[in-house]
Amino acid sequence: MNAPLASVDTGTAEVEPFAVRLRTQTQAAHTRAENAGFMSNLMGGSGSIDDYVALMSQYAFIYEALERVGESFRSDAAGSLFVNDALLRRDAINADLTYFLGPQWRETITALPATEAYVRRLDTVAARSSAEYVAHHYLRYLGDLSGGQIIRVMVQRHYEIPDEGLNFLQFPLIPKPKPFKDNYRAALEEAGWSAEERDAFIGEVDVAYGLNFDLFTELGASRSE
Ligand code: HEM
Repeated sequence: MNAPLASVDTGTAEVEPFAVRLRTQTQAAHTRAENAGFMSNLMGGSGSIDDYVALMSQYAFIYEALERVGESFRSDAAGSLFVNDALLRRDAINADLTYFLGPQWRETITALPATEAYVRRLDTVAARSSAEYVAHHYLRYLGDLSGGQIIRVMVQRHYEIPDEGLNFLQFPLIPKPKPFKDNYRAALEEAGWSAEERDAFIGEVDVAYGLNFDLFTELGASRSE
């Protein structure tokens, strides 16, 4: 993927790269999710290992759905630019929950209503368009490769979780996240989506941030019960 991320000169006006527009237009939603009480407590050290495990337990359902529906995009012209084995998190989550809860972890966890809504949304958009599916793919994986790396350092520091419990936030097949993320953003330019599909992508990223925010809210409420 060699497409530059610089603006495209149309001869009359500079066209803003889609990845830049995407980041700008979803910045407020990112800030809201980042500052959700559950997340800021976890990051600030006033959460607990149990909080982290509760989050991973919900991610088990969400990534199972994200990666299950993602399979159908391997043969899609645009979708195949993004679906990548190096990103897949299911085995990592399995390893982490086995570490925390034991090999029978699946029998001990239950999806929260916010998680069920998230999974339903993934099924809905995957049946509809590559752009809206990739919106969810982008939000989770670029987030995990960005803020996720800060989260890994903070939860390790505060709760002394060893690497064996933090596979989810380790990407052994992506030793350098920066060039990977640059290529991912270049692929957003190359995907060939129409203006309407790009708008739908950005709209769906907002929806996805909302789903994450709702999950943090429910986790915060269920953890303080
Ligand atoms: C404590 C929490 C968080 C911190 C400290 C944080 C921090 C960051 C930082 C520093 C970046 C920029 C990285 C770069 O330019 O390469 C970033 C990007 C991103 N974050 Fe977060 N983040 C947090 C939570 C979240 C959450 C909860 C989500 C999603 C639900 C998320 C989704 C994203 C996405 C999709 C990007 C990529 C933006 C882009 O370059 O297009 N982040 N985050």
